Amino acid sequence: MKRGIILKPRVFITRKIPEDILTLIEEVCEVKVWPEEDTPIPRSVLEQEIREVDGLYCLLTETIDASLLDLGKNLKVVSNMAVGYNNIDIEAATQRNILVTNTPGVLTETTADLTFALLMMTARRMEESSQYLRQGHWKTWSPMLLAGQDIFGATLGIVGMGRIGEALVKRAKGFDMKIIYYNRTPKPELEESLGIEYRLLDELLQEADFVCILTPYTPETRNLIGKRELELMKPTSILINTARGGIVNEEDLYEALAQQQIYAAGLDVFDQEPLPTDHPLLTLTNCVALPHIGSATIKTRREMARLAAQNLLTYLQGQRPPHCVNP
Ligand code: DGY
Repeated sequence: MKRGIILKPRVFITRKIPEDILTLIEEVCEVKVWPEEDTPIPRSVLEQEIREVDGLYCLLTETIDASLLDLGKNLKVVSNMAVGYNNIDIEAATQRNILVTNTPGVLTETTADLTFALLMMTARRMEESSQYLRQGHWKTWSPMLLAGQDIFGATLGIVGMGRIGEALVKRAKGFDMKIIYYNRTPKPELEESLGIEYRLLDELLQEADFVCILTPYTPETRNLIGKRELELMKPTSILINTARGGIVNEEDLYEALAQQQIYAAGLDVFDQEPLPTDHPLLTLTNCVALPHIGSATIKTRREMARLAAQNLLTYLQGQRPPHCVNP
């Protein structure tokens, strides 16, 4: 008796991922991987690879637009190993019946930790102080030497009250902070349970000592914080962005920091990543810049990789994955 050959779905993975998670995918799929750890896949290579596959497992470093999706004649699912999916044209994917998934939940606490760490670093001038010591400038204890801003009892303004915003509230409560928030849709149900107050964006910018940007990056939030908004902030206020670079206008931010119109900024994300090392923001001592490491703990990155694999496999095995972002 002749047996039919069951073809495994074909998958392309755009970066090296943990071995055991790769094995999980290989048990079900025929897999090809861009083998580099620190070099993104060139667009031309991705354009070739996408032609053959049923599923794409990608990172936020890949731009998945309509012209790329058009090449994926068999493509059914794109699994993004990130919670943010502004690198993918969701409308184009939906029009082509391609499912897109992301990895929410598993990076919430880790990203909130880094957001609060950046807040502390900038308020207490930790990077500047460390450089001061290493460069041999420390001659004596001095009353106002490297004095910064208090965190306890200050007002925290959260722009974008999603999961990470809620996790940040828990941390701020431990520092007796007053917490105000702005969200496109106010969340009265959270106000009582978390002890937070809603403000319009302009009101929040005027009142907060720390403004933390945690909103998704969409056409509506591009340049949400520019010259006008920075002018509303106090000269003692600090801006933290761990969401996406394009939400804050970097030229306007540079001016505001250089003129000491605001006190400092802590940035984990940039309009252009990697941030060029000759970028003007890096000349400022009141700007702390990190290389997009909000979710970068070993445990969390493994969880993100595992969830991205689970999303992909669930769909390729005929079920709807829980973290689908198409409307
Ligand atoms: C995400 O998942 O969107 C983060 O920016 C990566 O940590």
